[in-house]
Amino acid sequence: MCGISCYIGGEDAAPIVLRGLRNLEYRGYDSYGIAVKLSDKIEVKKSVGRISDSSLQLPKSNIAISHTRWATHGGVTEANAHPHLSCDEKLALVHNGIIENYTELKKELQAKGHKFRSETDTETAVHLIEEGVKGGKPLMEAVMEACRQIVGTFAFSVISVDEEKMVVARRGSPIAIGIGSKGDFFVGSDVTAFLHHTKKSVFLDDDQLAMIEKGEGIKYFDIKTGKEVEKKITEIEWDPAEAQKQGHKHFMLKEIMEQPIAIQKAIQGRIKDGLPCLEEIDSLEEFLKNTKRIVIVACGTALYAGWTSEYFLENALRLPVEIEYASEYRYRNPVVDDSVLTIAVSQSGETADTLAALRESKKRGSKVLAICNVMGSTIARESDAVIYNRAGPEIGVASTKAFTTQVSILLLVGLHIGLLQKKIDEAKVKEITSALQQLPEQVKEALAEKESIQEIAKKYYEKKNALFLGRGQNFPIALEGALKLKEISYLHAEGYAAAEMKHGPIALVDEETPSVFVVPKDRSYDKTLGNVEEIKARKGNVIAVSNKGASEIARIADDVIYIPTVREELIPIVAVVPLQLLAYYIADLRNCDIDKPRNLAKSVTVE
Ligand code: M6R
Repeated sequence: MCGISCYIGGEDAAPIVLRGLRNLEYRGYDSYGIAVKLSDKIEVKKSVGRISDSSLQLPKSNIAISHTRWATHGGVTEANAHPHLSCDEKLALVHNGIIENYTELKKELQAKGHKFRSETDTETAVHLIEEGVKGGKPLMEAVMEACRQIVGTFAFSVISVDEEKMVVARRGSPIAIGIGSKGDFFVGSDVTAFLHHTKKSVFLDDDQLAMIEKGEGIKYFDIKTGKEVEKKITEIEWDPAEAQKQGHKHFMLKEIMEQPIAIQKAIQGRIKDGLPCLEEIDSLEEFLKNTKRIVIVACGTALYAGWTSEYFLENALRLPVEIEYASEYRYRNPVVDDSVLTIAVSQSGETADTLAALRESKKRGSKVLAICNVMGSTIARESDAVIYNRAGPEIGVASTKAFTTQVSILLLVGLHIGLLQKKIDEAKVKEITSALQQLPEQVKEALAEKESIQEIAKKYYEKKNALFLGRGQNFPIALEGALKLKEISYLHAEGYAAAEMKHGPIALVDEETPSVFVVPKDRSYDKTLGNVEEIKARKGNVIAVSNKGASEIARIADDVIYIPTVREELIPIVAVVPLQLLAYYIADLRNCDIDKPRNLAKSVTVE
């Protein structure tokens, strides 16, 4: 949440950080601001609204910090937008995170004469640093001292009119430093801020600080001890062109359409001679042979990816698999020990609740495997092993290609553990991997239905409510379909286990409430047909996602969206595609801001 984009080097800094900020707008888009360091002052410009419409003009400077905000403390106003200035306007700071003890700190600072201009928790930090600088400390030491006094989470970037430096600090909120080729440095909440300039990145860990000096280079320090530390440079594999819309109207549509290639890359090199080949988890081999239980922790779409995979994992491994809302998990005193494998699923690798859940599991002795899309992310780094999705940057707030690649990878993980534990024979594994290798083509077939889905969207986009229903592994797909519709079209949608309808929600059904059924020709087909009949008997419209040749559903449903026939384990991956497209076209017809839906941010880095 919130995006930070900064630059220090030999170029004109404002246009560089503004471009980085545009790339980060998916992290928050209430308001934004830039500060540039001039020889005698810091100039700040702020605005409420979207960066895409930016007309901010700033003087030339080689040092700039900038920020796009997702409001936590204080309304969406120019005064609350970052950067924030110290009283003497010699320091400017941008922040991502939450300063929990800001009320106490603010009182103390006000008692010392500091005047606050905003309602934010962030402003406390810049006044705190100002106290240190007034006391004679250089900028870096003042920032370090302030960090020690702050309770909560932060990624800070701070500049001073008196020093040719930028100080960057982190605790609990992500921050990456891009190492340019001309002795210049970029700072971003994630690498998309600077990927078009450099693929070399350093990720600060918690309680680390970087001091970047113009013309001199960069040094890293431990905030607690004050000692210098070494950091390793990571080479980012993403192609910067992937972070562009490439002719599509929205990032979401682009990302839906590129799922065949994303799945292809996710499985590439991870199947050898028909067997899963996951070198990333070799180090866990002994543990995986003996693990007794799997706990999957995640949020939102990533949670539904885990939930979808639960059906296959339990069936193939005959191990208990539990799906946990990461946000609930750690407050529940979970029963987890060193016999449990925790799988943390997260596109961004920065979701605060998922990170907290994985730390909880680790504390209790569990080994943690992460499935992440963003390289070098905190969840990836803190886990015992990580498998990257390789889906390329996902910019649209609504997660799509991350989901299908997460489910594909979880399937391979399941097969790998199944072989290690001798729960599944090689012949069956080979059948499944062979089917998985054909999946990109079959997802293409599902995507080819987009015109007919667009027509269906035209029939229903003015409705107020919708139900999404499915049984077995199609139930989490229904949940995901409902989430997609809610978040981008602002229609009320509920996902439900189809057979549970009779226990209450069926009361919602009338001519105005369509039901979307995920009803492929699988083991639950006949039973689900019964649930479709129940809706029809109450005059509800039914949109069915099913296979060609499924004549019974074609006869009862008002509209049918066809998906290719695939092996049972792979059905969820093709079935989710039309639901993504349906949500997309409905939202587009409703003129919604699809890539940046109201109130949401792509990466939820606060609890
Ligand atoms: O980055 P993560 O996968 O950890 O994000 C988890 C959720 O915040 C995310 O899936 C969210 O629900 C999406 N907006 C759904 O489309």
